[in-house]
Amino acid sequence: MHYLVTGGAGFVGSHVVLALRDAGHCVVVFDNLSTGHRAAVPHDVPLIVGDLSDQVLLASVLEKYSFDAVLHFAALSLVGDSMRVPFTYLRQNYLNSLNLIELCVQHGIRRFVFSSTAALFGTPEQQPIMESATINPGSPYGESKFLIERVLHWADRIHGMRSACLRYFNAAGSDPAGRAGEDHRPETHLIPLAIDTALGRRGQLAIFGSDYPTVDGTCVRDYIHVTDLANAHLAALEQIETCSVTYNVGNTTGFSNLDVIRSVERVTGQHVDWRWDARRAGDPAVLIAGSERLRRETGWVPRIASLDDIVESAYRWRLTHPDGYDSPVYSQEDCETPVP
Ligand code: UFG
Repeated sequence: MHYLVTGGAGFVGSHVVLALRDAGHCVVVFDNLSTGHRAAVPHDVPLIVGDLSDQVLLASVLEKYSFDAVLHFAALSLVGDSMRVPFTYLRQNYLNSLNLIELCVQHGIRRFVFSSTAALFGTPEQQPIMESATINPGSPYGESKFLIERVLHWADRIHGMRSACLRYFNAAGSDPAGRAGEDHRPETHLIPLAIDTALGRRGQLAIFGSDYPTVDGTCVRDYIHVTDLANAHLAALEQIETCSVTYNVGNTTGFSNLDVIRSVERVTGQHVDWRWDARRAGDPAVLIAGSERLRRETGWVPRIASLDDIVESAYRWRLTHPDGYDSPVYSQEDCETPVP
């Protein structure tokens, strides 16, 4: 099969590219490299550097290759950041996706996998969160993803475009073969920050909020290994041959921010220096996935499910790639594909 992956140079997208290629599929990556990395895209995968707002370029890519499906990751994706610049998140995520979906319909692409988020739930009273839980986004980021889910609903109803909306919980870890890892600039995610603090590569870690209604007052999240998450996309691609689907993708277990610090200390053997800080706007107290539907309907199971194993996987990559994708292991060779 032939797939277009938007945002394929980013953290989750690059791991999905690896999973698709490992399964024998052909992949083209479309990425503006605003947060992704050229070196995250394997050398033999065509990389088209462009922005989703460039509809002329996008249309020419869809015309040149005949894709069986599009997997869409390219987006602004930080909950806290979206509380600072809400309209940027709403506009960019929603409009770019709307245009992409419309172009796909125009070019006869009838399969679409969408990188959605647990952030569209707010903090429901019932945990774990099932797909049927009330949608009540606690941030413009979550809202923007929900709007796109609605576009896909209508694309199916009116044009028969089948889609999978995968609502991710907290992705972490790195490719077990060491080909890819997490490299956000600046890094804002808890696991890589705690690891870098343990490694002495940064100062004290701030823990945002001590008075959430949780067991230790800190937020609780469901961490999923990025390769397990990537494999959920392959399972979803098979499933949309039958009908459109929506899945919550997590491990069904919650860990508090202090649990994460303790795990990082166990895995690294180092102390994590941390302090309390104020709550971060937009953070829901608890997000734990109910992922039974995905398991039941597709047979997907997470392989690296324990928090220590996920942290260990993230640690291994950060240890061997101190400068992320700027580490010497990645050649600086230009692998950009000429614009069609
Ligand atoms: N946190 C800190 N200190 C930090 C960084 C994070 O205390 O320096 C806390 C956050 O406040 C939160 C928890 O660690 O309580 C997890 O925060 P992350 O930034 O690691 O991840 P988020 O839960 O905010 O968001 C991630 C993805 C989103 C996705 C969401 C789904 O970035 O795109 O998981 O659960 F929507």
